[in-house]
Amino acid sequence: MAKYRIAWLPGDGIGRDVMEAARLVLDALKLDAEYIPGDIGWDFWRTEGNPFPERTKQMMRETDCALFGAITSKPRDEAAAELAPHLQGKNYSYYSPIVAIRQEFNLHTNLRPCKAYPGNPLNYRDDIDLVVFRENTEGLYSGVEFHPLPADLRAILDAHPKMRRFASMRNEELAVSLRIFSELGCETIIRQAFAYANKHGRKRVTVVEKPNVIRDTSGMMVRTARRIAREYPQLAYDEANVDAMCMWLIKNPQEFDVLVTSNMFGDIVSDLAGQLVGGLGFACSANIGDDYALFEPTHGSAPKYSGKYKVNPMAMLLSTRLMLEWLGEVEMASRLENAIAAVIAEDKVRTYDMGGSSSTLEVAEEVARKATGAS
Ligand code: NAI
Ligand code: MG
Repeated sequence: MAKYRIAWLPGDGIGRDVMEAARLVLDALKLDAEYIPGDIGWDFWRTEGNPFPERTKQMMRETDCALFGAITSKPRDEAAAELAPHLQGKNYSYYSPIVAIRQEFNLHTNLRPCKAYPGNPLNYRDDIDLVVFRENTEGLYSGVEFHPLPADLRAILDAHPKMRRFASMRNEELAVSLRIFSELGCETIIRQAFAYANKHGRKRVTVVEKPNVIRDTSGMMVRTARRIAREYPQLAYDEANVDAMCMWLIKNPQEFDVLVTSNMFGDIVSDLAGQLVGGLGFACSANIGDDYALFEPTHGSAPKYSGKYKVNPMAMLLSTRLMLEWLGEVEMASRLENAIAAVIAEDKVRTYDMGGSSSTLEVAEEVARKATGAS
């Protein structure tokens, strides 16, 4: 029996291209793993009315972790229109499988390293090396939303003095998305960030919120961070408002080290930071829970490149490296990272986004060659 069981979830479009690249590299590294393919994505929505079938969920429960490519998703009405004829008009409602997986498996921590590898022509600066920790299951993406406002909720809200400006509006004219924070959620993400900083020799942790305006939720995050920061006197701790952080990341990105924030702010800040070090072709991520994790590039399914093997596999390969590290295969992980860095630095085998004309698999082959010391 193999040492690891890994759920293999290519999904749609270029998700499949880059997962093939990941497999090529994992096989070259000789990771002792069994890869179990899972159905997920647009085809299963169209033909079954469910983009994340129950059997896939079950299969994942019997694995150590998952590697995920990308999936196509569309707004509710458009999605409903593409259902197979026999599923039309039966109240199937599209949802994002990746959000469902994060909640279902309690993958509370989203980790996004943003490192400028030397020689990458897409780097904004060459000295950027920061990591974003994003709370992954609550906050504004909790999914607790109302439109129109139910009458009982309206009655509760109307008691709030700040509701006066909406008093003349009908329930149909109002929409509410709740930003729910829990003490547990705040504590978990903050602890993950500090523990990571400590373990990886990082110097500084910055909590990114907006407590002067969103007092009760951001305030809870900041209070938690201040308390936990005291347990790590060797790490510098500071706070920044999310809007100011977006400016500073453009002005002085090299000054930041570990950033930690809530769900939506983390979504935005990590995309910004990812663009500073090469964009979608390089933006890797880990979704980590207490006993399960899923690793994915942050790009989507890029339908126009689907099956053309043109896109950059680096984001997928860097995500694969995060998986190896999480599994405890630290030596293999660093061999992979060094090989990726060497291929980037060398300027021989590059995909179109880096100005080259190599294919997805040619890049993967070159990384595999370097990672295994073959010439
Ligand atoms: P996208 O990330 O799929 O692609 C946008 C553009 O970025 C591409 O056309 C391409 O020019 C570039 N790009 C993306 N990945 C690249 C790579 N590895 N190498 C080089 N260039 C790359 O975003 P888009 O077009 O907004 O969405 C397409 C579909 O993907 C939609 O259905 C969307 O809902 C879905 N999506 C899925 C995500 C996921 O599965 N986690 C995340 C984002 C979007
Ligand atoms: Mg995003």
